[in-house]
Amino acid sequence: MKNYVKTCSSIDDTRELAKRFADITKQKGCFVNLFGDIGAGKTAFVRLVAEALDIKEKVTSPSFTILNEYHTGEIPIYHFDLYRLENVGIKTITDELREYSEGKCLTFVEWAEFSQGEVPFDRIEINVTYDDDDNRCYTFTAIGESKKEIIELLNK
Ligand SMILES: Nc1ncnc2c1ncn2[C@@H]1O[C@H](COP(=O)(O)OP(=O)(O)O)[C@@H](O)[C@H]1O
Ligand SMILES: [Mg+2]
Repeated sequence: MKNYVKTCSSIDDTRELAKRFADITKQKGCFVNLFGDIGAGKTAFVRLVAEALDIKEKVTSPSFTILNEYHTGEIPIYHFDLYRLENVGIKTITDELREYSEGKCLTFVEWAEFSQGEVPFDRIEINVTYDDDDNRCYTFTAIGESKKEIIELLNK
């Protein structure tokens, strides 16, 4: 199984999904790329994962700072938003992203539409789409052997 697809018809559904994802990934940590249109629910997912890990601070979009860090929960969360980086800028932070992909933390990267989202290490990619109202579809894909177990556990 390469994918896990979940349709959430309310924010509470997404909260439950985020809790499951947090429980599965918090043992080893995980690097996560998030894709989807503006307003799809990328930041909302990060916020709900943070909530599941008991992070005390309010998670906001890091659009103007590129990186927000949260250290008050069970494990650290690093939240990048590359919306404001130029395409060339992506390459300049690949090494930095690699550092954040190692260790027992959860790193989320929201990609701008113009970027490829290609980084040279194992990761989970989440694509978020929405049609109307509060319906959101979250598709999880494992890139690399070490992340396949996460997809298997999500599918259970
Ligand atoms: N089922 C749902 N899952 C996630 N977000 C939802 C859902 N229903 C409504 N929303 C709302 O959709 C918006 C998503 O915004 P945001 O997460 O900032 O988008 P993005 O980061 O993808 O641009 C939030 O206002 C959130 O409350
Ligand atoms: Mg966002």
